[in-house]
Amino acid sequence: MSEQRADVPLDHDYDGIQEYDNRLPNWWLFTLYGSIVFSVGYWLFYETFAVGRNQTQAWEREEELAAQAQIEREMGKEVTEESLLLMTKVPAQLEAGAKIFQQKCVQCHGPLGAGEIGPNLTDGYWLHGPAPLQIYNTVMNGVLDKGMQAWKDQLGPVRVRQVVAHVLTISGKEVKGKAPQGRPTAEWEKERAAATPPAAPTDASAPPKTPNGK
Ligand code: HEC
Repeated sequence: MSEQRADVPLDHDYDGIQEYDNRLPNWWLFTLYGSIVFSVGYWLFYETFAVGRNQTQAWEREEELAAQAQIEREMGKEVTEESLLLMTKVPAQLEAGAKIFQQKCVQCHGPLGAGEIGPNLTDGYWLHGPAPLQIYNTVMNGVLDKGMQAWKDQLGPVRVRQVVAHVLTISGKEVKGKAPQGRPTAEWEKERAAATPPAAPTDASAPPKTPNGK
């Protein structure tokens, strides 16, 4: 920067505008080479070896940790639809649930949940309801006279929540297996919608449309 050479103009000339052929200053070159070196490191770290989390992954991780923290807070409390759905967003909980399913449920529901002795859990037809709390209650209390045991003592409420989260993730996957038993999900949902709010106006308009409901 200090020993300034004589400015040598390049030999082109645009409308009287000329350009010197000066050497680029070192500080400028350092930023250029520095950023090239940095980009290689960055690429290896985030893309090739994926050691670092990119923004999307960092966000997902943060969400997962928040969900996990909330689950831990809620484990001691009463189970709700929301708390069960939240479980399905946390890989660690789903992994635990899948493991329990493989240990305790496959002999009757099959490894993919497509049913053997027990019904197909993936087909969108339910004997006791598809809602998270309905599934939770079925698993906790069983259907003793039909061969489905109550799991509340053997697994306890935490592990039952985990396995229910797993059932929720396979529900609707339509794995080919045992023929459908029970009623379709849509029908259960309609019934629940009618039962939950004491909604007189919608009830009044509903009957003419529904008698042939499937
Ligand atoms: C010994 C066999 C057996 C085992 C083990 C078993 N189930 Fe079942 N399960 C059944 C049978 C049989 C039914 C159907 C009950 C009925 O006909 O009402 C059933 C029903 C269900 C239902 C209700 C399905 C519906 O259509 O509403 C769910 C959910 C369920 N089981 C989940 C599980 C989970 C989770 C486990 C493992 C923790 C498990 N089951 C272990 C036999 C079993």
